[in-house]
Amino acid sequence: MTNQHISPISIIGLGPMGTALAETLLAHNHSVTVWNRTPGRADALVEKGARPAESSAVAIAASPISIVCLSDYDAVWQVLEPAGAAVSGRALVNLTSGTPNEARAVQDWVTARGAGYLDGAIMVRRRWSAIRNRCSFTAVRVRSSMPTG
Ligand SMILES: NC(=O)c1ccc[n+]([C@@H]2O[C@H](COP(=O)([O-])OP(=O)(O)OC[C@H]3O[C@@H](n4cnc5c(N)ncnc54)[C@H](OP(=O)(O)O)[C@@H]3O)[C@@H](O)[C@H]2O)c1
Repeated sequence: MTNQHISPISIIGLGPMGTALAETLLAHNHSVTVWNRTPGRADALVEKGARPAESSAVAIAASPISIVCLSDYDAVWQVLEPAGAAVSGRALVNLTSGTPNEARAVQDWVTARGAGYLDGAIMVRRRWSAIRNRCSFTAVRVRSSMPTG
């Protein structure tokens, strides 16, 4: 079986959740590009096969889908605004915790650049092992506007 159907994915933000997402995707043979404000947090993932990006814009440009997982929406804006040109034609999945209004504001900004947007949240169990195994894209609370073409 080939891996031609497995999409490259970029992860923006390598806190515990972003790191767990990247590890899960690598374990399922995705090509994973990672970016974090503090570069050293990518090192362990690079040893496992992730590709480090020098900026959030480079990470977003590297994959058709990028998962954004930052501490809050202030961080999301600080990361996305300098990367505006790279967002065009891509799809962003934002799993950063926030309010529906915060999510809609980012959705409007992203879709205005011809990109798809899905806002969701991460739900985890208490134990760290469970976080690594069960980190999932659930509890989507804002409509999806992913491109259909
Ligand atoms: N941890 C959990 O158990 C848990 C469970 C459910 C949901 N969540 C949600 O998942 C999201 C991520 O949580 P997390 O625990 O993985 O990490 P976190 O500690 O909440 O977020 C840290 C990440 O945000 C980045 N960041 C913060 N401010 C930034 C800025 N101004 N510019 C660029 N990057 C910035 C950090 O970069 P640096 O490394 O450079 O500081 C790091 O990558 C949060 O919204 C959280 O509420 C977390």
